[in-house]
Amino acid sequence: MGKPLVMKTIKTAIVGTGFMGKVHTENVRRLGNVEVAAVVGSRKETAERFAAANSIPFATADLGTVLQRKEIDAVHICTPNVDHFPMSSAAMEAGKAVLCEKPLAMTSAEARKLVEQARDRNIVNAVQHNLRYYPVVQQMREMIAAGDLGEILIVQGTYSQDWLLYDTDWNWRLDAKFNGKLRVMGDIGSHWMDMIQHLTGLPITSLCADFTIFHKTRKRPKGSVETFAGKKRAPSEYDEFPIDTEDFGMVMIHLGQRAKGAFTVSQMSAGRKNRFAFEIFGTKAGVAWDQERPDTLWIGHRNEPNQVLIKDASLFYPGAATFADLPGGHSEGYDDSHKQLFKRFYARVADPSAPVDYPTFEDGLRGMILLEKSAESDAKKSWVKIETQPSA
Ligand SMILES: NC(=O)c1ccc[n+]([C@@H]2O[C@H](COP(=O)([O-])OP(=O)(O)OC[C@H]3O[C@@H](n4cnc5c(N)ncnc54)[C@H](O)[C@@H]3O)[C@@H](O)[C@H]2O)c1
Repeated sequence: MGKPLVMKTIKTAIVGTGFMGKVHTENVRRLGNVEVAAVVGSRKETAERFAAANSIPFATADLGTVLQRKEIDAVHICTPNVDHFPMSSAAMEAGKAVLCEKPLAMTSAEARKLVEQARDRNIVNAVQHNLRYYPVVQQMREMIAAGDLGEILIVQGTYSQDWLLYDTDWNWRLDAKFNGKLRVMGDIGSHWMDMIQHLTGLPITSLCADFTIFHKTRKRPKGSVETFAGKKRAPSEYDEFPIDTEDFGMVMIHLGQRAKGAFTVSQMSAGRKNRFAFEIFGTKAGVAWDQERPDTLWIGHRNEPNQVLIKDASLFYPGAATFADLPGGHSEGYDDSHKQLFKRFYARVADPSAPVDYPTFEDGLRGMILLEKSAESDAKKSWVKIETQPSA
């Protein structure tokens, strides 16, 4: 007997109704075989509003109600960082597959518990490092694996944004109670470090970090604010809120045996909206990419003209081509990177023998260890080694 023509519908629940709640809802639906069967909000009215706007049949403020429902196969955790650990843990306890936003938890101790729980209960798990899955980025990865760049020697780059430039800009990420101890590093430095290790296949083995808080206090509005909501809105009623998490970070790194590099992270770089950029140089060639121009790959040569490759899966390595669903010249961007991760995660939810070719809680744990090590380095103003491996 062959495979059935129509795959069973997988039912999922979205937790969180903000920026990521919406992105996950829209993009998981693009798979075709996954139904968003429930949404969980911080308040019942918020969840109901989101459900009505997005045609979701069940809305609640109580995650437990959703977890009790047998027909729910998977849960997406799209809430502030403080909720990632308790919600992921409760969902796994209920036997649900869990896809959690990054950073995986508030501490490496929490992340390690999630890894262990997932392993003990044999739960399908993923952490949403979706930025790996731009087609051109995957082409870079295949080029590196095929040896086109030679031995990797140098990595450099930045993840820069401007949405927290003013002291009147506010978001829950500015409060360590909801965000954790590292803000810019946790929010976007986590993506930079995950990406560079994913692409080069080299672990970060030591680092030296220097963080700065430019606004020692910020104006916290008395109402609530969702992520990226209205840059031109300044609060008229606010509290002076002391800031204890970094606005800007500089990090030097060593990778594998011989590679070295450096990157910066910022939420205060005027005009840089979401500039995730890096360059990787090997003994034969270099590559460079910038998320603000996601379909373009720069390839640098020493003794022949440089190249600019435009996304065209028909010209890619076969592995990279599987990350492009549209023909050349038809751009694939941020939304698509989420869809590509969901596709691979749900293939595994549907079939436990499918490959684990997406970032898992182990990657999330590694990310948390690196974040904590960067905080340690900044505090000591010296290099620190990364000894602990997640599976050790
Ligand atoms: N992978 C990416 O590219 C990416 C991009 C942005 C954010 N993120 C991550 O996604 C997570 C959410 O960030 P965001 O930008 O969507 O924030 P957001 O503020 O836009 O949304 C958070 C939502 O969670 C809801 N919420 C809070 N507590 C809740 C609770 N107990 N139960 C149910 N809902 C609750 C809030 O009401 C809000 O709707 C963060 O961990 C962040 O790091 C990832």
